[in-house]
Amino acid sequence: MEFEVRQMSPACGAEIIGIDLRQQLQPETVAAIRDAWHKYHVVVFRDQELSDLDQIRFVGYLGSVGEYMRPKDLQESDNHPSVMMITNIRENGEPIGAVPDGEMMFHTDTTYAENPHDATTLFAMQVTKDGGHTLFSNQYMVYDALPEKIKTTLADKQAMNVFEFGTAVKTKHRYDRSTSPHHPHPVFKRHPVTGRLAVFVCPLLTEEIIDFPEDKGEEILQLIYQYQERQEFILEHVWQKGDFVMWDNRCLVHARTDFPRDQTRQLRRVTMLDEKLA
Ligand SMILES: [Fe+2]
Repeated sequence: MEFEVRQMSPACGAEIIGIDLRQQLQPETVAAIRDAWHKYHVVVFRDQELSDLDQIRFVGYLGSVGEYMRPKDLQESDNHPSVMMITNIRENGEPIGAVPDGEMMFHTDTTYAENPHDATTLFAMQVTKDGGHTLFSNQYMVYDALPEKIKTTLADKQAMNVFEFGTAVKTKHRYDRSTSPHHPHPVFKRHPVTGRLAVFVCPLLTEEIIDFPEDKGEEILQLIYQYQERQEFILEHVWQKGDFVMWDNRCLVHARTDFPRDQTRQLRRVTMLDEKLA
């Protein structure tokens, strides 16, 4: 299948033009998409019309399909178990989706779990006119740019990642770990395919560097977060209806810009748990 890969920004991101993801893909097409994804970390396919099963099939070409780790108190929905609906649509005044409103801090999906999902895909069903953009920050670049002293000091350190479901902005220094899922992960993590080191902490979930002085650890984390915010490391994706986006959680953190409450936003999320390594 003939298609074009067009780089979106020096930080990351490429648009893949000329593929209808409803179609069955040949192994060589899948291999080319995988290569573009490893090179650019975010791939964007515009003007798609995908059902939940189309989206799940696509993820299955590249790895195992993740199950949505829904909070225990969230009601069962009619969605496929791998689908998480991110939307501010309300029924009887109650949001029907996860993280419905507003700005969301930089984070990595599912790092509160032992085996975080390698990739996230979103399909844009309804988009806002103003805001609600997704920012992707390249964590290879952040790692490379950090002072050598920090890289050496934290080379073998782990950080604790804690998530209180539904939070988009961290409002407490520490969440209650008896009720919030949490897991330690390396501060710097080596990508299994590219072999490169990437920063693997984020302001929404990371609470502390383990076995490290608390004040000093907090200071370094805040410094790392400042690097993550640098414009030269960021792609800002402005959503269009029909966008299908897949990104690599192992080398990116992502955030959401604020948007008006009276505009409808609906994105269907399916994650890839483990990439099929060649
Ligand atoms: Fe996310």
